[in-house]
Amino acid sequence: MTMSLKAKARARCQWLPDLEAYPGPRYKALVTAIKTAIDAGELAEEERLPPQRLLADALGVTTGTVTRAYSEAERRGLVAARVGSGTYVLSKSLSPKPDFYHLEEGRDDGSIDLSLSLMVPSSERVKTFYQALQQVAEDPEQLAAALAYQSERGQTRYLQVFVDWLARMGVEVRSEQLVVTDGGQHAMFIALQTLMAPGDLLVSDRFTYPGAIAAARQLHLRHQGVPMDAEGMDMEALERLCHQQSPKAVYVMPDLNNPTGCRMSLARRQQLAELAERYDFWILEDSVQFLPEAFRLPRMADLIPKRTLYLFSTSKILAGGLRVGLIASPEDLLPGLMASLRAHCWMAPPLMVALTCAWIERGDAERLLEWQWQEVHARQQLLADIFVDQNFSCHPYGFVVWLHLPEGWRASEFVRAAAEVGVRLLSAEPFCVGTQAAPQAVRLCVSPPAERSQLEEGLKRLYRLLTSPPKGRAVF
Ligand SMILES: Cc1ncc(COP(=O)(O)O)c(C=O)c1O
Repeated sequence: MTMSLKAKARARCQWLPDLEAYPGPRYKALVTAIKTAIDAGELAEEERLPPQRLLADALGVTTGTVTRAYSEAERRGLVAARVGSGTYVLSKSLSPKPDFYHLEEGRDDGSIDLSLSLMVPSSERVKTFYQALQQVAEDPEQLAAALAYQSERGQTRYLQVFVDWLARMGVEVRSEQLVVTDGGQHAMFIALQTLMAPGDLLVSDRFTYPGAIAAARQLHLRHQGVPMDAEGMDMEALERLCHQQSPKAVYVMPDLNNPTGCRMSLARRQQLAELAERYDFWILEDSVQFLPEAFRLPRMADLIPKRTLYLFSTSKILAGGLRVGLIASPEDLLPGLMASLRAHCWMAPPLMVALTCAWIERGDAERLLEWQWQEVHARQQLLADIFVDQNFSCHPYGFVVWLHLPEGWRASEFVRAAAEVGVRLLSAEPFCVGTQAAPQAVRLCVSPPAERSQLEEGLKRLYRLLTSPPKGRAVF
């Protein structure tokens, strides 16, 4: 006896709800069934839902009914469609990915740590910070102001210091656009919180800054990565995605993508601006990995100011510990940003802002930054000399290097082997959006070692590993 189409489809469905158990139109019943199955653990996080056509045949409904139900489930933040791959149950877990980057206390085991994109250590930085501290300490007016509650945006005089400093570095912002934050991560978080609601879709490069992945998870956003090449995000892929779904915001690091070190070409930036207009989404432009003016292209905030929030931080320039960042936003978003800021922390600590501004006004910030760029450039040249026959991408003035591993190495094994020879770095995994397979690549940073010679030693150890991959992995 031949099986009917319905019976065959039912046999092939790995999950099959009983729609009769739920009232209302069939598509709504299916949404409820999906939710009930997720809550009961019948559908696991990241599990793929049955293909729409198959489920429709199995349930005896039209494909349109299933499509509508999947879209509604997506709108409610239960599932996410992945282009060309199907619809998956969204992760409810708030815990970060297991190997999410972080600083561990007491990890000073003598290893050469190339894992995090930190500033180049400098005794000059410490010395000039001491002088800035002294200057603020000797000014009773500034000290009294630093002890008081202030406007959540920051004091006008400090906003002007930031405006003038950015202008000297070739970035035009107006003080009316600015909000001072507790660093770049906080700037990104409150921008996302202001613009987006749980279940909304955030789009970024396929390889992106893990802090953006973490923020999207904490805010219960859907987050999809778009393929990229040496010129940045693939705009055709982004447009296809915009046809199918409606991104609320696109997060980019146009001048220097962390982790790949790639920069987005002017043509791609213009296309992104056009798409933002056509498909009505916001752009979050992250400039935290800040480059010399000669290496920056027009900002998204210059190309499409009314849709771009420009995120800036002093963490890679002056000091990560001060936690001072900025958002330059379209002015009509300021009330929302300030409401979010108030709900978090009321305001960025005024003392930190006062110290940062004293440092800037003394001229030290620009001097330190210039020195750091030259040092990073020399380190990148050192790396290019040592890794001469390796496959990597980076920016000549950027902290990060994305290293494609030669045949024979898996990223996780390489990270372990590097740790065994006393070098720390990160696999591609924490930079990958969603559940797409991570490439056999690692990210390392040239900036953290205090001395260039330590970096050189670390790179030589890595090179020895790169040129002697493990042999004879069994193939079954
Ligand atoms: C691209 C990018 N954005 C944001 C941040 C976070 O900056 P902050 O340390 O100021 O919070 C970082 C830090 O590494 C970063 O690389």
